[in-house]
Amino acid sequence: MYYRTHNLGELREKNISEKVKLSGWVDNRRDLGGLIFVDLRDRYGKTQIVFNPEKVSSELMEMASSLKFEYVITVTGVVEERYSKNSNIPTGNIEVFADSLEIVNKSSVLPFEISDEVNLSENMRLTYRYLDIRRPRMLNNIVKRNKMLFSMREYLNNKDFLDVDTPILTKSTPEGARDFLVPSRTNEGKFFALPQSPQLFKQILMISGIEKYYQVAKCFRDEDLRADRQLEFTQLDIEMSFITEDEFMETMEELAKKVTRDVTGEEINYTFDRITYQYAMDKYGSDKPDTRFGMMIEDLSDLALKCEFKAFNETVKNGGYLRGIKAEGVSEKFSRKIIDDYTEFAKIYGAKGLAYIKIESGEIKSPIAKFFKEEELKEIIDKFDAKDGDILFFVADKPKVVYDTLGALRSKLGKDLNLYNENEFKFLWVVDFPLLEWSEEENRYKAQHHPFTAIKKEDVDLLETTPEKVRTVSYDMVLNGFEIGGGSLRIHQEEVQEKIFKLLGMSQEEAREKFGFFLEAFKYGAPPHGGMAYGVDRFLMVLLKETSIRDVIPFPKTNKGQCLMTEAPGYVDEKQLEELKILSTAKREENQ
Ligand code: AMO
Ligand code: AMP
Repeated sequence: MYYRTHNLGELREKNISEKVKLSGWVDNRRDLGGLIFVDLRDRYGKTQIVFNPEKVSSELMEMASSLKFEYVITVTGVVEERYSKNSNIPTGNIEVFADSLEIVNKSSVLPFEISDEVNLSENMRLTYRYLDIRRPRMLNNIVKRNKMLFSMREYLNNKDFLDVDTPILTKSTPEGARDFLVPSRTNEGKFFALPQSPQLFKQILMISGIEKYYQVAKCFRDEDLRADRQLEFTQLDIEMSFITEDEFMETMEELAKKVTRDVTGEEINYTFDRITYQYAMDKYGSDKPDTRFGMMIEDLSDLALKCEFKAFNETVKNGGYLRGIKAEGVSEKFSRKIIDDYTEFAKIYGAKGLAYIKIESGEIKSPIAKFFKEEELKEIIDKFDAKDGDILFFVADKPKVVYDTLGALRSKLGKDLNLYNENEFKFLWVVDFPLLEWSEEENRYKAQHHPFTAIKKEDVDLLETTPEKVRTVSYDMVLNGFEIGGGSLRIHQEEVQEKIFKLLGMSQEEAREKFGFFLEAFKYGAPPHGGMAYGVDRFLMVLLKETSIRDVIPFPKTNKGQCLMTEAPGYVDEKQLEELKILSTAKREENQ
């Protein structure tokens, strides 16, 4: 006994007169003039089944009229040319006249309709994720996810990379987020950490002589969630030995192009631009700029020093910047009210205000114009090459606030003013990230990337004098304003590594405790190596033009870090805690 001869997306006119057996879910039932029509659905599509009272028994008609949404049924029948053709579906030219029907399984009344047309709360979708995945859009996303992973594996296998898996129960890894810990029952008081990435293992594999490694790896980071972040996410993790950064980046570029083609059908036939981190920050206010549109940031700090507007002048005297952007030909759209809204938006990023200048009918209109001399205003206009109908926005503040505000403002203006083509895929590399990053929280420099990132040869001498200026051999791949991957060449000499640890304020003991095995491995002939990791979920999200990473992950967590379907995380038995020698001070909430 088999369930089917064909799937439900398969039958065409060439099958007319064939006897077939089909199985699937009842997507819809319509009773029309004695006939009963059922749209039967499976992963491959829908096929119309007809029950005709003139051809089949009244018992069968009765059974057919009892069919409800999502019943699982098997029918046999004959393929016929469809009376009223449906050009919207591939099977729309045929229908199957049933001569037998078996109800394989019934379905309870559904919490929501299986359709892309209904508007559902995300909570509902995640609670009933199995039903959500029956909807065409989610099913398509899962099919595309498979395409992406297959494409990646195909590319790398063809290039002789070895897929090597690495442990999930391991030691803390150095990606800088909070660890997820797992208590060890057999080693009292000790904990495993879930890997934030396979970073240490993949470098160890280079020392082992694997040369070309990849893995589709689950990574775990206990950080605050956002639209493009999850606690548990998937990386395509890659590492190679004996390569230069150019060779490596070319390989990664080719991989990204193949994946884009295989997932979307889109051909990317340009070489990715490379811009430095500093340039990205200065011109776009972001280290992952959306370069589908221009609107570059200009610096006016010198002018601020000369002008009489205190807010600008004093800010720059105290080490801040005055910078601005231009929106072309849209000054009329910016009423008082709208400018106020944008000013409020700027304040989210810490700006104290949002100054502006409009040029209308050859005149400068601006509440701050009075603070500037004629030639200073001209200097501003020239700097931006501003014309009639343009509006300029300015922010004077600490560098970080200026970057963040103008970066966010640029993105918002790009979207609000439709400055880019939604369908374009614009890849680029951002390179040469600084080694160190100032941590406001800890009041000290921290590694921007992980502490094994190689530094640029020409910057080695700066390590002793001005370490904040040291740049690393690092690269992020950016797509439409999202960081979809990142990596670096690694340090492979023990002495350099020690210097870096020292710079990061890590004592020899601390380094040994954290990375002892790793540093030991480097004593036995480490080849030069480097790599990167793609964020699979994020890359897919951008390719599919989804706005939430959750829509491309089969079973994601909510923003509160919960799985609504399984209700994880949950409380555990006291006995389990006792076994693990764990005392919990957390209060248990009832009904959870
Ligand atoms: P990095 O930390 O930059 O590098 O991570 C690589 C890529 O993974 C994605 N990503 C995430 N996606 C979803 N949710 C998250 N919480 C999340 N965090 C990161 C991003 C990012 O570009 N070991 C290094 C790589 C290397 O140096 O080889 C690493 O993990 O798309
Ligand atoms: P004020 O003199 O404070 O009323 O500010 C005049 C204009 O300058 C207003 O439009 C403010 O939004 C703007 N402004 C004030 N401080 C700043 C600043 N630090 N950066 C940018 N614009 C500012």
